[in-house]
Amino acid sequence: MKRIICENQEKTKVLGRQLGSLLQEGDVLCLTGELGAGKTFLTTAMAETLGVEAKDVTSPTFSLLNIYHGTKYVLKHFDLYRLNREEELDDIGFYEYAGGDGITFIEWAELFPDAMPEEHLTIRIENQGTGRKITLEPHGKRYEEICEKV
Ligand SMILES: Nc1ncnc2c1ncn2[C@@H]1O[C@H](COP(=O)(O)OP(=O)(O)OP(=O)(O)O)[C@@H](O)[C@H]1O
Ligand SMILES: [Mg+2]
Repeated sequence: MKRIICENQEKTKVLGRQLGSLLQEGDVLCLTGELGAGKTFLTTAMAETLGVEAKDVTSPTFSLLNIYHGTKYVLKHFDLYRLNREEELDDIGFYEYAGGDGITFIEWAELFPDAMPEEHLTIRIENQGTGRKITLEPHGKRYEEICEKV
């Protein structure tokens, strides 16, 4: 587990770039934290590093899943906020798309913890004054590796 304080959004951007550069095929990132915590903000920084233009990264609150094409990887960006029941994950193709090819980002992963791929990196974002406390919780060896490098 690793805890990083990002006093402002620039610091969060730097962390996002660093994390983004460590990601590879098959990685799954579960982002948690309240409305406006910075889940999309951090995902955007990671996606930029992977070759997606920031303007192309949008909140999938209504679309539920956005797909971006980075330089090397396909990025799948979920937002589960609007789902009411775990069964709805099936309808949106969650089990088909989460994990597998490319890199998966899942906002509001805490709503359906049992549905997450067994191995993943949880990124918990909490407000701390005007900044954010960002906690990385690895689930699996691959994600422990990432945490050690951050
Ligand atoms: N240190 C910080 N790190 C990240 N974002 C910050 C920070 N300080 C301020 N912000 C601002 O907080 C907002 C975070 O919004 P964002 O859409 O990323 O939240 P979210 O967690 O995705 O919310 P939602 O649950 O609605 O999807 C942005 O407007 C960003 O500029
Ligand atoms: Mg968001």
